[in-house]
Amino acid sequence: MNKPQAKYLKDYKAPDYRIESTDLTFMLVPDATMVTNIMHIVAKPETVSEAPLILYGTDLNLVSLKLDGVELSTADYVIDGEELKITKLPSDFMLQVVTKVNAAANTSLNGLYVSSGNFCTQCEPHGFRAITYFIDRPDNLSTFTTTIIGDKTDYPVLLSNGNLIDSGESDNGQHWAKWQDPFLKPSYLFALVAGKLDLLEDEFITMSDRKVTLHLYVDPGEVDKAKHAMESLKHAMRWDEEKYGREYDLDIFMIVAVRDFNMGAMENKGLNVFNSAYILANGETATDLDFELILRVVGHEYFHNWSGNRVTCRDWFQLSLKEGLTVFRDQTFTEDFTSPAIKRIDDVNLLRTHQFAEDSGPMAHPVLPKSYIEMNNFYTVTIYEKGAELIRMMHTLLGDELYRKATDLYFARNDGEAVTIEDFVKAMEDASGKDLRHFRRWYDQAGTPQVTVVSEYDAGKKTFSLNIQQYTPETPDKLEKLPLHIPIAVGLLNNNGAEILPTTVLEITEAEQTFTFDNIKEKPVLSLLRGFTAPIKLSYAYQDSDLALLLAHDTDTFARYEAAQQLAHRQLDKLVQAYQENKTLEVDKSYLLALLQVAQTKFSDKAFQGLLLSLPGEKLLLERAQQPDLDAMHAAYQFLRRSIAEYLQDDLLTLYKKNKISGAYENNQEANAKRRLKNTALGYLSLLDDGKLAIEQYQTANNMTDSMAALHAINHHNTSARDEAMANFKERWAAEPLVMDKWFALQASANSDKVLKRIAILQEDPLFNIKNPNSARSLIGSFAGNNLAQFHAANGNGYRFLAEQILRLDKINPQIAARMLMPFAPWRKLDDNRQKLIAEQLERIAETEGLSADSFEVVSKLRA
Ligand code: TRP
Ligand code: ZN
Repeated sequence: MNKPQAKYLKDYKAPDYRIESTDLTFMLVPDATMVTNIMHIVAKPETVSEAPLILYGTDLNLVSLKLDGVELSTADYVIDGEELKITKLPSDFMLQVVTKVNAAANTSLNGLYVSSGNFCTQCEPHGFRAITYFIDRPDNLSTFTTTIIGDKTDYPVLLSNGNLIDSGESDNGQHWAKWQDPFLKPSYLFALVAGKLDLLEDEFITMSDRKVTLHLYVDPGEVDKAKHAMESLKHAMRWDEEKYGREYDLDIFMIVAVRDFNMGAMENKGLNVFNSAYILANGETATDLDFELILRVVGHEYFHNWSGNRVTCRDWFQLSLKEGLTVFRDQTFTEDFTSPAIKRIDDVNLLRTHQFAEDSGPMAHPVLPKSYIEMNNFYTVTIYEKGAELIRMMHTLLGDELYRKATDLYFARNDGEAVTIEDFVKAMEDASGKDLRHFRRWYDQAGTPQVTVVSEYDAGKKTFSLNIQQYTPETPDKLEKLPLHIPIAVGLLNNNGAEILPTTVLEITEAEQTFTFDNIKEKPVLSLLRGFTAPIKLSYAYQDSDLALLLAHDTDTFARYEAAQQLAHRQLDKLVQAYQENKTLEVDKSYLLALLQVAQTKFSDKAFQGLLLSLPGEKLLLERAQQPDLDAMHAAYQFLRRSIAEYLQDDLLTLYKKNKISGAYENNQEANAKRRLKNTALGYLSLLDDGKLAIEQYQTANNMTDSMAALHAINHHNTSARDEAMANFKERWAAEPLVMDKWFALQASANSDKVLKRIAILQEDPLFNIKNPNSARSLIGSFAGNNLAQFHAANGNGYRFLAEQILRLDKINPQIAARMLMPFAPWRKLDDNRQKLIAEQLERIAETEGLSADSFEVVSKLRA
């Protein structure tokens, strides 16, 4: 087999030519769209004469190629794989490329494709080269003019980047529109949409009093579900002005929601394209979490207009330059519009569950990777979430004011350019005067640092000192790890729970350091890593009683939550051990009492109370364990949940009743918080009452959050009531694909040994469509990613099923197939039997003839 080749950061070389302007014409026909691409190209001043021009193209059907109006013959150029090389060129010329594209047959959803009968594009990172030959790399900045010609009835809406400068009618029922984007941009930000779409219109007045037209396009009949996204957009536009001084630059901003999309959304200049899951919502069809995700993703894509579009990446190794920064921006934006404490905890849980797992497994890579085979595989939680943590740490180190000064400098210095992560860090350094030499290592070193803290109280000297050591475990690149610059926020409490040292940031820069606090009158309780100021794993020998005190009294919400989590982990660890030693399982009374106290305390933030009562996710346990005993972990988890439910039963029922909301659904912080607490209580109570309360909630719910919480609570029950509720839900929502995706996900995550049989039947259901990524992720992804017990069933059926689905998907959509390999990632820490079973499936995938480069890269890394 011809092995796909890796690209290396160290080989970066700027192109010899620049495409200054690009004039595109699309004649839309689903299976034969003609794309005429006229480029004005100049040699760079430093380019040696006769240097070849290299354009990129993937599986293109080339119709003609003209240089300054003269047709080139096959003797004038060479096509070698993805590269088209032309030699003997003048220093300034026009090149015209005509290609024919079959969008209707494009199931990869990369480049130009058809979704629900509409044309749309996805060009990041390398989709543009599936449309035409181009210097399809982010360091070529060009202006774009796009003319779209298509049938008036099939494609009444014709959109591309920038401003509509002209439009008209032509023969045979055709019409056309001409768009011009005055801003320089790389080709990955190009977009085209054409089809039947309904429009929600609004406007925004910018800080300098310019009117911006806002157009949100959705499938016909869905406009009533687009209002929350529109409100989110206006919030984002205002927030970026207030927090970062960033104003929108074009006269129009458009969003289009499409059903078939590989990721969440795409920040194309002036024309964002969204997975409809991150646009469409109303109280009946969407959960509170959906509303929050829409706010977040709409914000994320909008923020890219500055962090990504105006200032873009020099090459794809720099991806986190735009993604880490933009995720940090969308996180803090969402914190400002929801609850900062809750949002931070949710984000840390995501980081710990997914990014820490990635960073300690075969897919570990630095935030600034050094090589890749298929760039699509590098849109990872490390690039996005760890990248955001690095920005957050710089924010912590610089403080609000200097951070803002630094981002202002970064945007001013690099506007209109394609730059590197180093340019960003340099701006942080230059604006603040802060030395970030050791901080930069975060970008180059993979792996989650392990930080160990040892404290000592000297009663005579009244000092409290902390000895802090850091080390980063080895990762697959085998590179040496150097000490990192780590901000760790701490505080001190006395034994009555009063704060005696407010939040103080310690800056660790060496492998080992000691910090001493003076004038500490009694032995204090240490509150560590407040606000989770660094993406690290921390160990400190807490007494259980210290953790209980922090849980009850810490002023920092994250540290308080963390104390509850640590107490839970300790119980789980003990239960796992007892299970393995065949001893009776027992939960410490002191732990149950601490939780009981949480249940009986009045909290102003009900969501926070719900979080304190929640156990860490089972997937997080898998990440934390060196050699996970899946069966023991599952048994321990079930036992602990049931013990809590029994011990807190009366109070949980009280909380359930008190936080029940009568009246119409409202999506606001207080109502969401109540539902979150109430549904946490429901989860526990359903372990004791055969799902009676959950069924009642399902039958009376007037919103999707409560309906889904009810179904979640009884999903693992093998009862006819559960099956009836599931059937009722399907009947009710069959016409709503996004709601049906939730239903498929529920079915696939049910811990029942019948689940694979049910999935086989569901795959034949007309409402399931493997070509649609949301649909595939709901059924296949949820099984492999969220149904730990059944996916890891000791008979290997779960593993075999996933491998079959990956091979099927690989022919349809390689990007999605490669991502589906991830549930196999922790395989080397499982028991021998499971390792053997997974190894067989990985081998089977690796040896499949014609496997995509996407899947090849992932499966090779998993097996290395
Ligand atoms: N830039 C997009 C974002 O983070 C990510 C994205 C959207 C993407 N679609 C994609 C990445 C397709 C790779 C392939 O907002
Ligand atoms: Zn992004």
